[in-house]
Amino acid sequence: MKVITLQGSPRKNGNTAQVLSWVEQELGALGHEVESIFLNTKNLKGCLACGQCKEKPDTVGCIQKDDIPEILEKMTRAELVIFASPLYFWGVSAQLKTVIDRTYSLYVDYHQPGHASLVEGQRQALLVTGGGPYENNAEAAFTAFGRLQKPHKAVNAGELFIGSCSTPDQLDERIKDKAIAFAHKIIG
Ligand SMILES: Cc1cc2nc3c(=O)[nH]c(=O)nc-3n(C[C@H](O)[C@H](O)[C@H](O)COP(=O)(O)O)c2cc1C
Repeated sequence: MKVITLQGSPRKNGNTAQVLSWVEQELGALGHEVESIFLNTKNLKGCLACGQCKEKPDTVGCIQKDDIPEILEKMTRAELVIFASPLYFWGVSAQLKTVIDRTYSLYVDYHQPGHASLVEGQRQALLVTGGGPYENNAEAAFTAFGRLQKPHKAVNAGELFIGSCSTPDQLDERIKDKAIAFAHKIIG
């Protein structure tokens, strides 16, 4: 399976990167082709809501001149996309949210009979780390992600929240086991 991971933490060696690397290693060991994209070093601009992408249903069609159209092109070729982020004020990081907003250019005619998507049938998974617990904290991020598959016509492959994180060296074998189990779950 062709897998893209979108690493949304600005910290290259932080908690999210550590947990995601365990997932990526397991996917690689299972024979999947994994490409990891570290968003923080990319040129990421917000969606202009210009609607020009909607006039080109067969291509990404985004007119913003930054690194996101290339990321979206890669997404269209992936069978599984893992969205990974630290929890920032009950949501995902700005880096990842910016890419998510720009996926507006991946589909047309949402809620209409002609609804079509360049990522139809794609498996999509969410991995989030946070300093606090899930309850009263991470629900909003997971609710929003759970709705993303509707306009994308994609499949929610699974979600993983690792809470009460401090430093990456404190992430133990129990967390690694959860990451490995998550890798097996999301490939279906
Ligand atoms: C700006 C900012 C906002 C944060 N907001 C939350 C939050 O709402 N809930 C939470 O549990 N942790 C929050 N945290 C803690 C991080 O989510 C947590 O430390 C995470 O594991 C960091 O991941 P990283 O090491 O990959 O950057 C916040 C941290 C920062 C810097």
